[in-house]
Amino acid sequence: MYFIDAENVKKVYAEGRQKHTVAIEDFTLQVAEKEFVSIVGQSGCGKSTFLLMVAGLEQITEGRLTIDGQPVNGPDPLRSIVFQEYLLFPWKTVRGNIEFGLELNKIPKKERSNISSEYIRLVGLTGFENRYPHELSGGMKQRVAIARALVNKPKVILLDEPFGSLDALTREGLQTELLRIWLEAKCTVLFVTHSISEAIYLSDKVAIMRKRPGKIKEMITIDLPRPRTRDVFISPEFREYERYLKELVWEDL
Ligand SMILES: Nc1ncnc2c1ncn2[C@@H]1O[C@H](COP(=O)(O)OP(=O)(O)OP(=O)(O)O)[C@@H](O)[C@H]1O
Ligand SMILES: [Mg+2]
Repeated sequence: MYFIDAENVKKVYAEGRQKHTVAIEDFTLQVAEKEFVSIVGQSGCGKSTFLLMVAGLEQITEGRLTIDGQPVNGPDPLRSIVFQEYLLFPWKTVRGNIEFGLELNKIPKKERSNISSEYIRLVGLTGFENRYPHELSGGMKQRVAIARALVNKPKVILLDEPFGSLDALTREGLQTELLRIWLEAKCTVLFVTHSISEAIYLSDKVAIMRKRPGKIKEMITIDLPRPRTRDVFISPEFREYERYLKELVWEDL
């Protein structure tokens, strides 16, 4: 049994009585527990739609979607999502933003503070606990969003182009950090990106989607040793994965 198991999932968005968009159809994807899987595909192929359904924020129209054997029927703290825009509460500090989920779960103040300190350390924001979002860089805001998503110890973390709006250097730093956090937090990751090299560097498997209606076209296992360092980018194996995956994505253009 797979941990995340999507079988022949279809999602139709209905807009009014006449207009329907079939966002994804015959979508089948299986992810094992603690695996890191990236989803790559052209704009509009349904990547965010799939993540939102796994998060329980959108309902599937047809098919089957189970997590740990249970059908998804709505949001659950065991599944958290990080979007491209940081979506932090501007009136809360770094610590306040990270503790928000713990407050919802009625964790006592002292314990909240211990837990948030641990995650602040994990994402490298020690010393910035009392800053407000407007006092942080984009990369720092994204770290807060990641810490906030991890704080309830989710089993699944869903990242939708989390580094898309960052400059190249910050993005590289956060990729490496995310790998470290993933190893420490031991959760299952679904990661959406437009960057093929980012997907190869991070993932155990890369799923390529095709468009209209969106479905998984191919799933490639990335057989590069871990822990990975950035040297891997210049290895012939990496280049070969990159060439092959680019071809698959370009086929549909
Ligand atoms: N709330 C919605 N209502 C109606 N149609 C929607 C809605 N959300 C997405 N769609 C449509 O579903 C399809 C898939 O959209 P989705 O946002 O999942 O694509 P995506 O792969 O995440 O694209 P991008 O790479 O640009 O983020 C698109 O045709 C889009 O117009
Ligand atoms: Mg999207």
